[in-house]
Amino acid sequence: MEHAAARVNAALDRFLPPETAEPPAIHKAMRYSIFAGGKRIRPVLCLTACEAVGGKIAAAISLACAVECIHTYSLIHDDLPSMDDDDFRRGKPTNHKVFGEGIAVLAGDALLTEAFALVAKSNPPKRYPVRVLVRELAFAAGSLRLIAGQVQDIEGENKRLGLEEVKRTHLNKTAALITASIRLGAMAGNTTPVQLRRLTRYGQNLGLAFQVIDDVLDATSTKEIMGKSVRADEINRKSTFPNVLGVDKSRQFAADLIADAHKQLKPFGNKAEPLHAIADFFLTRKH
Ligand code: IPE
Ligand code: IPE
Ligand code: MG
Ligand code: MG
Ligand code: MG
Repeated sequence: MEHAAARVNAALDRFLPPETAEPPAIHKAMRYSIFAGGKRIRPVLCLTACEAVGGKIAAAISLACAVECIHTYSLIHDDLPSMDDDDFRRGKPTNHKVFGEGIAVLAGDALLTEAFALVAKSNPPKRYPVRVLVRELAFAAGSLRLIAGQVQDIEGENKRLGLEEVKRTHLNKTAALITASIRLGAMAGNTTPVQLRRLTRYGQNLGLAFQVIDDVLDATSTKEIMGKSVRADEINRKSTFPNVLGVDKSRQFAADLIADAHKQLKPFGNKAEPLHAIADFFLTRKH
């Protein structure tokens, strides 16, 4: 994971405009959040899925950077006072705390836009032309998935949503982009449709488990370990997995999802070892 993350960091540095590009305020703000120290789980999954289907990392690198740009934009906006109102992220003050709300909104907008420029830069195999990749990312990030989930998350504040509703929110706000990251990597590696179906289910399991564990860590961990504010869900009166199931059952629920994810990888044999390891990391991660 560290090796793949280093590749992603170097590529992001190459692709994003330098801090000195006019106007410097926006490029400083974009780079501030991108290089603040995220785990790079989505781009690493993208590269790893590409390799699992026999592709080369270079074929997926611009797509990996694109999903990280979408993710980082979603975090900048998620932290805004009008959303979760958080002042700490990736071990640093949030974007709007440093650059002000106006620039933070625009830094998010700029990263979202940059993501599609990066998809346009990719050079995919014939089976998956660029327009297919654009549609994949636009759908996952759009108003029927990631944005839908963020809307459901806001609308769920001060309410007691049931298991199915919280699940739907989490599938949209978090699992859709994680699944798309894997699918895009597999497409760049010229995956077969049968492999793609299995990796999609692997991704949905991972994505839902990721947000379940995020909710558990928000309720149980510390700001120092997480590098972001904790108890934010309680303060904002969110509907979360620990609210609905309690912490222990939430962890068990995530473990069951990860067990199914492992099953999906069976036909890939040795090539899927890194994907197995990442699946385990989703349960054991501390931040
Ligand atoms: C945080 O994602 C937001 C959620 C979807 C739970 P990550 O935990 O991947 O955040 P970074 O990228 O490592 O900061
Ligand atoms: C964030 O969910 C999901 C997206 C940004 C799409 P959270 O609000 O739980 O993420 P954190 O806990 O602030 O990282
Ligand atoms: Mg949120
Ligand atoms: Mg939040
Ligand atoms: Mg959270």
